[in-house]
Amino acid sequence: MATVLALETSCDETAVAIVKNRQVLSSIVSSQIDIHQQYGGVVPEVASRHHVEMINLAIAQAFQEASLDWSAIDGIAATCAPGLVGALLVGLTAAKTLALVHQKPFIGIHHLEGHIYASYLTEPSLEPPFLCLLVSGGHTSLIYVKACGHYETLGQTRDDAAGEAFDKVARLLDLGYPGGPAIDRLATQGNPQAFPLPEGNVSRLEGGHHPYDSSFSGLKTAVLRLTQKLQQESNQLPVADLAASFQETVARSLTRRAIACARDYGLTTIAIGGGVAANSSLRRHLQTAAETHNLRVLFPPLKFCTDNAAMIGCAAADHLNQGHTSPLTLGAQSRLAIANVMQLYQ
Ligand code: KG4
Ligand code: ZN
Repeated sequence: MATVLALETSCDETAVAIVKNRQVLSSIVSSQIDIHQQYGGVVPEVASRHHVEMINLAIAQAFQEASLDWSAIDGIAATCAPGLVGALLVGLTAAKTLALVHQKPFIGIHHLEGHIYASYLTEPSLEPPFLCLLVSGGHTSLIYVKACGHYETLGQTRDDAAGEAFDKVARLLDLGYPGGPAIDRLATQGNPQAFPLPEGNVSRLEGGHHPYDSSFSGLKTAVLRLTQKLQQESNQLPVADLAASFQETVARSLTRRAIACARDYGLTTIAIGGGVAANSSLRRHLQTAAETHNLRVLFPPLKFCTDNAAMIGCAAADHLNQGHTSPLTLGAQSRLAIANVMQLYQ
């Protein structure tokens, strides 16, 4: 039964949590969204500086919220890959320093493994194997979860991540950053069938047969062309219909691939992770399709879908329980395939 202090600073949230196995004792998330909004996206240097300013305070708050002190902590974890290196280094360096000072084991965690573990926080009785649909600002993956630290990527995006597509289309429609929640809100007032849009035909792309891969750059271009055409016809753009049609297309595409993948591999549970898992249309489509095919879909609550440290702590507690710890020489990596997670442990 490991209790872990976990730090997550891979992008624009400074997050700290204390987790006992699959139970969250405290979870602090200090978002930088307001700061990055003025630039229309995350500025890496600005993100790193704010992590430095916030991390000590967030650690103190996590202890206070959990009413615990250092004696209760069995290990200290931090996200070490993938992400913005300057941002990752803040949490990683803090965690390694604290591990050294307090003589506790250190556990480096892969950010995507963290997103997978958000489902264990939601459903503590969940056990592998299951399929995880991970849809965030940087990733769109279908991951076969075999055991702690053992994953196989069965599908991924060939170009933009789903969240990236939401953010880019939102910018195009002048809806601000982050785009996903803005499109989701506006889409409730629009007709999802107003404009038929292409789902992205990956089978026509090079590189063999990858039935579960997706592609969103063609869809983004289609929205751009359609917007330009509509602007020529009228100076009042049907923004809600465009948002709803775009969202519907992404949700349909992701649902189709996730369901096909789960059925082909005989997996009966699909767990959703990443910021785009908050999307209402995706949730609706997946729920309906899962009922049709007799599959179980797990949706973590929104606070665990977007970046947080509780999911990192949950993954770290599992690794620590299995005797996996990381060397204090572990560095930050901007990229690391989830299949290679076990490289992080000694
Ligand atoms: O997982 P996350 O918090 O950060 C990483 O990228 O790791 O995901 C952020 C992404 C952004 O692209 C944001 O636009 C998208 O998740 N997002 C949404 C929604 N809420 C957040 N996309 C669609 N619908 C939403 N409701
Ligand atoms: Zn994330």
